[in-house]
Amino acid sequence: MKKVLILIVAVICLVGYSLCDLPVHCMPDKTPGEWSFQLTEQNLSKEQALEKCQLKAPLTPSRKFTVTLSTPTLAKDESGNEGNWHNVYDQGFELVIGGNKYFAFFEYAEQGRTIVSKCGNTFTGLYHEAAVGPKKWGCYKATKTSKVEPSVFSINEPVSASNEIVTANEINKLADTWTATDEYTEDYESKLVPLRRFKALIPDNKLAIPIPAAINKDLPSTVDWRNVSGVNYVSPVRNQASCGSCFSFASTAALEARINIASKNTKHVVLSPQDIVSCSPYSQGCNGGFPYLVFKYGEDFGLQTEECYTYEAADTKCTKDKCPGNKRNYVTDYQYIGGYVGGSNEQNIMEALTHGPVVLNFLVYADFTRYRGGIYIRKSTVIKGGHSVLGVGYGEENGQKYWIVKNSWGGDWGENGFFKIRRGADEAGIESMGPSFATPVI
Ligand SMILES: *[C@@H]1O[C@H](CO)[C@@H](O)[C@H](O)[C@H]1NC(C)=O
Ligand SMILES: *[C@@H]1O[C@H](CO)[C@@H](O)[C@H](O)[C@H]1NC(C)=O
Repeated sequence: MKKVLILIVAVICLVGYSLCDLPVHCMPDKTPGEWSFQLTEQNLSKEQALEKCQLKAPLTPSRKFTVTLSTPTLAKDESGNEGNWHNVYDQGFELVIGGNKYFAFFEYAEQGRTIVSKCGNTFTGLYHEAAVGPKKWGCYKATKTSKVEPSVFSINEPVSASNEIVTANEINKLADTWTATDEYTEDYESKLVPLRRFKALIPDNKLAIPIPAAINKDLPSTVDWRNVSGVNYVSPVRNQASCGSCFSFASTAALEARINIASKNTKHVVLSPQDIVSCSPYSQGCNGGFPYLVFKYGEDFGLQTEECYTYEAADTKCTKDKCPGNKRNYVTDYQYIGGYVGGSNEQNIMEALTHGPVVLNFLVYADFTRYRGGIYIRKSTVIKGGHSVLGVGYGEENGQKYWIVKNSWGGDWGENGFFKIRRGADEAGIESMGPSFATPVI
């Protein structure tokens, strides 16, 4: 029974992350240029803003401004204010300027199997003062002042699950740094739901091995937040069950560990992934989302505790707190490692890890779900989806460098719920797909 459950979990997470975040695809190189922002008054409460600034809500702007975005992150508005912008992967962009913070998703249209991404327009988004727990909110839309050709891509044909036979036996013959098992993946292939847009995102799925960059900084040779002089700062492994919520489990796990670290293990909080799934306007519930936007939700709205908003692994309606008057857990200084998607590398991830666990994102290849132990190096070329997890450290063993990672597929998967993955070679995108972290307000 348990094994079947793990299997379902694995399938759903992959599907959720890759299939069902918004199907818009605007990579960061499309964003720089001059944008016109049209805004409503900044006189809404957050509750009013949640209601009025929904994705496709019509907008009656009362003012506007223009801002020029340059590569990689500098923003300058028409009054000469300087600020900071960056893409949230391919979904939208966030701008901080003139004391306010703005986020909206890029506009897109679905026509059958064709997605038209309008990378020079956003849907309706939210803005507010740049602060923890902002009070004054408004809605806005942004449009690039020069014309941007829409990007058109077709939804991929479903990836055939049978075009690569991957059994634990076959993997174990190829892999010399890790072992696979069939134990919890017996029916995996037959249960997979087809993915649709990965070919558009991934330029290369060959087994290329990039040359590792030299690490020229004085960093510890090993970091493991599960055992710092015998003390564990990582919260227990959880199981996301049948909901594409890996992004919320990875982010809450990062904050839980950082609360443990900041409080010297005197304060232990279990945060609520369900509140994020059900209530965040910045993600798509059990259909997926991005860890960076969970941190943003934590700064803007605060996070619930598990006790006050229990995990149900379902897209339930956002309800009122079960603990009236309880204090929400706020987040600050959320950031992409390196400052933007594409700015991360082995060294700055190692640096970030010396301060606490960080969220890592990567591509799940067909052999990954069979991981039982060791240092994962992919032997498959078939991408099944994307996944968000928690980096808790790094090390080296027999000349092979690795990251230590906490998964959210329960404690029976992998090495008691954890895995190791090759470090320094951008294995399955683990170093390049927007690793991020944030600071809990305690
Ligand atoms: C906000 O300002 C607009 C424009 O002045 C006004 O129509 C609206 O009623 C105000 N809303 C609130 C909640 O005060
Ligand atoms: C923690 O690490 C130390 C070495 O730093 C080791 O001796 C000890 O066995 C480890 N504890 C656990 C629980 O792994």
